[in-house]
Order: sequence, then C-alpha cells, then structure tokens
Amino acid sequence: MTTFKALQVTETAEGQFPRHIVQRHIDELPAGEVLIKVAYAALNYKDALSATGNKGISRTYPHTPGVDAAGTVAESQSDQFQIGESVIVTGYDLGMNTSGGFAEYIRVPAEWVVKLPSNLTLKESMIYGTAGFTAAWSIYRLQNSGLQPDQGEVLVTGATGGVGCLGVALLAKLGYQVVAGTGKPEAEAFLRKIGAKDIIGREQLQDTSKRALLKGRWAGVLDTVGGNILETAIRSCQYGGHVSCCGLVAANELNLPIYPFILRGVSLLGIDSAARPMDIRLKLWDLMANDWKVNVLQDILIDATLEELNAVYIDKILQGKIRGHVVVTL
Ligand SMILES: NC(=O)c1ccc[n+]([C@@H]2O[C@H](COP(=O)([O-])OP(=O)(O)OC[C@H]3O[C@@H](n4cnc5c(N)ncnc54)[C@H](OP(=O)(O)O)[C@@H]3O)[C@@H](O)[C@H]2O)c1
Repeated sequence: MTTFKALQVTETAEGQFPRHIVQRHIDELPAGEVLIKVAYAALNYKDALSATGNKGISRTYPHTPGVDAAGTVAESQSDQFQIGESVIVTGYDLGMNTSGGFAEYIRVPAEWVVKLPSNLTLKESMIYGTAGFTAAWSIYRLQNSGLQPDQGEVLVTGATGGVGCLGVALLAKLGYQVVAGTGKPEAEAFLRKIGAKDIIGREQLQDTSKRALLKGRWAGVLDTVGGNILETAIRSCQYGGHVSCCGLVAANELNLPIYPFILRGVSLLGIDSAARPMDIRLKLWDLMANDWKVNVLQDILIDATLEELNAVYIDKILQGKIRGHVVVTL
C-alpha cells in the first residue's frame, strides 16, 4: 500500500494538539475524482489555526491542514484532468475538514481543481496561493466598486503578511499609490521593494477618539486585520472611498458609527475567497498569471520544508511575525 509524508495534528485527552510528521496511507484520503501529487503548499493564517486545534476551522482530529496545494495529477476519474497535468487547489474545504496540502498527496473533487495557467510555475502559484487569490479578489471588487489609480492613496493593512504583501504588489502593479500599514517598521525596505510608495506604522492606524469622521485620506483600503484598524480606515476614507474587508487577525469585530457610509458614501466590500465559484476563480488566476503578474514574487517567497513549517512557521504566523509568504516544498 502506498504511503506518503504528511503533517498530522492529533488531539489528546488533555485537549492538547501535538503535531508530527508521519507516514499516512493513500487510502486514508477522502473520496474524490482527482488524486494529486503535491509539489508545493502555502501557509495561511487559517492553516495555523487548524494546526493548533481551532475547532472553528477544523472540527475533527487527527487532521492534516493546508488550504493550498499545487502539483501534478496522479490519478483521475474525471475527463477534465489527465495524469501528469499541473494543477492548483485552493480553498473550498481543502485542509479544513478534509485532508490538506501539508502532505505529499491530496484527493479532491474535480470541481475544486484549477489547471495551472500557462504563464505560471507551480511554485509561483503557491507564492500567490489563497493569499494572492484573496488579494486579487479584493482588488477586483475594489475596482468594480469604482476605485481608480488616479483617485489617491490606497491603504493595505497587515502589509507584511501573506494577503497584505501580495495586495501591495498587485495594487502597485496596477498603478495604484500604495501605502503599507504595518506593525514592522524594520520591513520598510521590503515593503518599498514590493511596491509600497509610503509606509505607515500600525499605531498611527488606530484611533480611539470616537469621532465619526476623520481627515479623509484613503481613496481605497485593502484591509486584512479588522477591528479598530478597519474602523479607523473607514472613518479616514475620502468621499466615495472603497474598502475591502477579508481578515480578523487584530479583532473579529467592527464598531463604528454609520456616518462614513451616509455622509461620505464609503463602500464596504466583504471578501470570501474560499467558496468563490469556478468562473471568477479561473478569471483571477488568469489575471495573476498574465496581466496582473507581479515581478516581485521571489522577494515575497519564504522557502520552507515540511519540517521547518512544523517547527518554526506555524507558530510564527500566529505571532504575526512573518514577512512574506511561506511556501512548503513537499
Ligand atoms: N476572507 C477570506 O477569504 C480570507 C482569505 C485569506 C485570508 N483571510 C484572512 O486574512 C487575514 C490575513 O491572513 P494571512 O494569511 O495574510 O495572515 P498573515 O500572513 O499572518 O498576515 C497577517 C498580518 O497582519 C498583521 N498583524 C498580525 N497581528 C496583528 C494584530 N494583532 N493587529 C494588527 N495587525 C496584525 C501582521 O502584519 P504587519 O506586521 O505588517 O502589520 C501580519 O503579518 C487573516 O485573518 C485570514 O484569516 C481571509
């Protein structure tokens, strides 16, 4: 019987969630039409929650996390996918309540699988991963809401994180004036390299004055952190500003008066990338591979083995200490 290497999280009777790298059997994988030999996976904040026993993400253990994987088709019961084809799987239920990408194999339904676009390598697809896809979906929605590069500065919060740094790079590629909001002043050179025109410290992005409207600075905001930083950003939008909201690393709440919406016409756009339908998924991957392709992917990449992911990066992402996007080579 074929075995494969995987990160596995178990649950102890004492409520602990130890992680180990183990050999698993192919027949333990869930049902699905496509078996994929994983070449690369990416680390997201959500994966770290799943890897540390967050039952809001993953209900049952033992479990192999990893919401992103790219590799080659090893077996296929779908006529859409042939053995040896390069493919990407991001989101849906991968790595949440099914066995995920932190393993040498995944088995998934054919409707989760995207063919690798021709202008992207498997590794580049994982430098983007769900983080890049979420940033691209945020930007797509901001643009459709009416945000144009000539309208002024666009703030990206959590700018050194996965979604944040890919948001900075993609917005810069599209000609926007990007201001990177970060808790890591030492990352200024990195943020400028990937496209930020200006840097703003996290403390300057948090207002507790309770004033309904602050000086209108932002034409747009790509927020990845939530809480007071998102509240402050909304209250600091120009007339007609556009704000996307995808994350909650700072807080999962939003407490603010409605005045920015009714006096400045600010638009707040919710972002859910995991369940995006296939038509928009294909469109965004094509954009990321071609017209929107950023030339700083290698600057954003943090290379890791499965062992390093387990020993170092899962804890580091939960502490908000990562600068870039971790890609695991399987
Ligand atoms: N809605 C969706 O579909 C979707 C998809 C993907 C991710 N997400 C969410 O988006 C968020 C970011 O995900 P990610 O994978 O990019 O995570 P990440 O790599 O950990 O990035 C988060 C960044 O936020 C900043 N940060 C960390 N702790 C903070 C705090 N307490 N207060 C303010 N800022 C803090 C840090 O950047 P700086 O030091 O530069 O400030 C950190 O690098 C997560 O909440 C994730 O669940 C949502």
